[in-house]
Amino acid sequence: MTEKGTYYISTPIYYPSSNLHIGHTYCTVMADAMARFKRLQGYDVMFLTGTDEHGQKIQLLAEEKGVTPQEYVDEVVAGIKDLWKTMEISYDDFIRTTEDRHVKRVQEMFMKLYEKGDIYKGEYEGWYCTPCESFWTEAQLVDGNCPDCGRPVTKAKEEAYFFRLSKYADDLLKLYEENPGFLEPESRRNEMRAFIEQGLEDLCISRSTFDWGIPVPIDEKHVIYVWLDALTNYITALGWPDDPEKYNKYWPADVHLVGKEIVRFHSIIWPAMLMSADLPLPKQVRGHGWLLLGGEKVSKSKAAKGQDVIDPVVLIDRYGIDALKYFLLREYTFGQDGMFTNEVMLKRLNYDLANDLGNLVSRTVSMIEKYNGGFVPELTEAGSCTGDVDYDAQLKEIAIGAADKVGAQMDEFKFNMALEEIWILVRRANKYIDETMPWALAKDEAMKPRLDNVLHNLAEAIRIISILIHPFMHTTSDAIRKQMGLWYADVAWEDAYTFEAMCGEQVKKGDAIFPRLDIDKELEELYALGAKAKGGSEETNIPLELKDEIQYEDFEKLDLRVGTILSAEKHPKADKLLVFQVKMGTETRQIVSGVAEHFKPEECVGQKVVVVANLKPRKLRGLESKGMILFADNVVDGKERVEFVTSIADDGNPVT
Ligand code: MSP
Repeated sequence: MTEKGTYYISTPIYYPSSNLHIGHTYCTVMADAMARFKRLQGYDVMFLTGTDEHGQKIQLLAEEKGVTPQEYVDEVVAGIKDLWKTMEISYDDFIRTTEDRHVKRVQEMFMKLYEKGDIYKGEYEGWYCTPCESFWTEAQLVDGNCPDCGRPVTKAKEEAYFFRLSKYADDLLKLYEENPGFLEPESRRNEMRAFIEQGLEDLCISRSTFDWGIPVPIDEKHVIYVWLDALTNYITALGWPDDPEKYNKYWPADVHLVGKEIVRFHSIIWPAMLMSADLPLPKQVRGHGWLLLGGEKVSKSKAAKGQDVIDPVVLIDRYGIDALKYFLLREYTFGQDGMFTNEVMLKRLNYDLANDLGNLVSRTVSMIEKYNGGFVPELTEAGSCTGDVDYDAQLKEIAIGAADKVGAQMDEFKFNMALEEIWILVRRANKYIDETMPWALAKDEAMKPRLDNVLHNLAEAIRIISILIHPFMHTTSDAIRKQMGLWYADVAWEDAYTFEAMCGEQVKKGDAIFPRLDIDKELEELYALGAKAKGGSEETNIPLELKDEIQYEDFEKLDLRVGTILSAEKHPKADKLLVFQVKMGTETRQIVSGVAEHFKPEECVGQKVVVVANLKPRKLRGLESKGMILFADNVVDGKERVEFVTSIADDGNPVT
């Protein structure tokens, strides 16, 4: 352990349902910057990330693809690891919930809670959102849909094991009261307090309707339901309980970094489980906001909708890792949602990186080459600033004061403000060039000592900048240090506090740190890529192949109504057919549709649909079907999918 002690930071473990997007990258990039920052400050850092691989959704996806769930996740996880490798994410461990080390320790966690008397068998009835793998109470639904993703939920009832979460409500409120720093930012704390005060229900922690999960040790019919499995990763990765060396060293975690939608699980369920297991609680949970695309959360299912490119791999290929990392850390305010557009990103890259930082480095290196044979000059008394304003002192003050300011912002997870502190110095140094006008000094031999001091001060400022940006953009930092002749020295945070470190280093002009981008051209090319990724084509107006034209009078004959599916079951005599009972206002009727390949009956219950209500009834394999439910083909993540045509209107309303 170092003098500074340990620092344990985690990201959520991501679902390997499909490739990750810019939203996941955002969280991981923040954790990486923090881990690198703490390491540079001398902490012994443990940075954990990983994948949350069990659950019904993965099982269904694997079935669809015709592979085993393990094969399915292995492939996606390999891609996730590749992405982090490309991005040089400096994690110390990557935990997969399908690994033996995790599985057996989750079972031990289950037993701990069970032996404490906090787990009992009961019957669960609730509204279940399959994509989110979450049960919701009636009160939590928004317009009858999942409050997280807005998709339809289905009523589900089953025998299940429960964790006595309700027992811990008072302890949790006490935790927030006595230790407000446990949950940051404050807005999230207030939300959680209100949530608990509404009354906590016990938590369903097992499922018996699918088997892709960790078996419940006392009942082989059940698998452990996702949150007990997932949250425990933060200690199973450390070896708890059977290999406690790392656990003793790093637990309790300093911070669990999570998106705002899973703050609830981390600040209510996780501490309650730890309380039940008599284990120490993490020091802090930090909830960050979402990246939005066209006003909606960037998500796997919406990823294909917009034309803005959100695939981190494409963006890195074009602009480099550091550009993407800088943008994500600089643009968004921790805790708040922020819009992602390619244009905002490109402007940031041009203004801050190409103009401000890139210019500072290239101008300084060129001037040292031109005016001092390529060597950083020594500071001399004779070269001191003599005018009314001491520009040297101003630059120095900002430069040696920056490290503390950056540190203070980082302690608050204000990545954008930490970078702003660095850019105050970058901009000040550029201004210093304009103020001191080295090209004018170079014309007068008598001013050589002054010119030397100016060049020296610029080199010092850039050296300090190279240290300060290291946690955020280590490759750029290294490139700058190479150009400044600093290749011989390791980056050390303490060196950012001194302004007299350089003398005689040989600078060497290299490629532009960040090339200037032609924003219009980039946007055009990115949008073409975005359209392609969406499954479209660069030529966007190719007529569709359709059936024969119909007259308006034909269309007018259709009576389209909104309905809600009350029940759905397989047709007893036909594999392809589902039999629905659909309520349309006052009337409930039976409709048979050929969609059994696309939907499981339980997924359809509660779904709002649009029905051709005046279609002549007919019998389908012996069962009457009165009307037709409308479906549409959609393309999601490049795959064709059948979806309900739906409406937000009330049952029975005509669709006009
Ligand atoms: N498997 C759970 C987490 C279990 S942790 C014990 C999970 N996985 S996830 O794949 O859905 O990842 C969620 C996390 O990804 C969010 O909490 C957030 O950190 C990140 N993001 C996913 N989409 C995001 C945005 N659109 N914007 C910002 N972050 C986003 O939930």
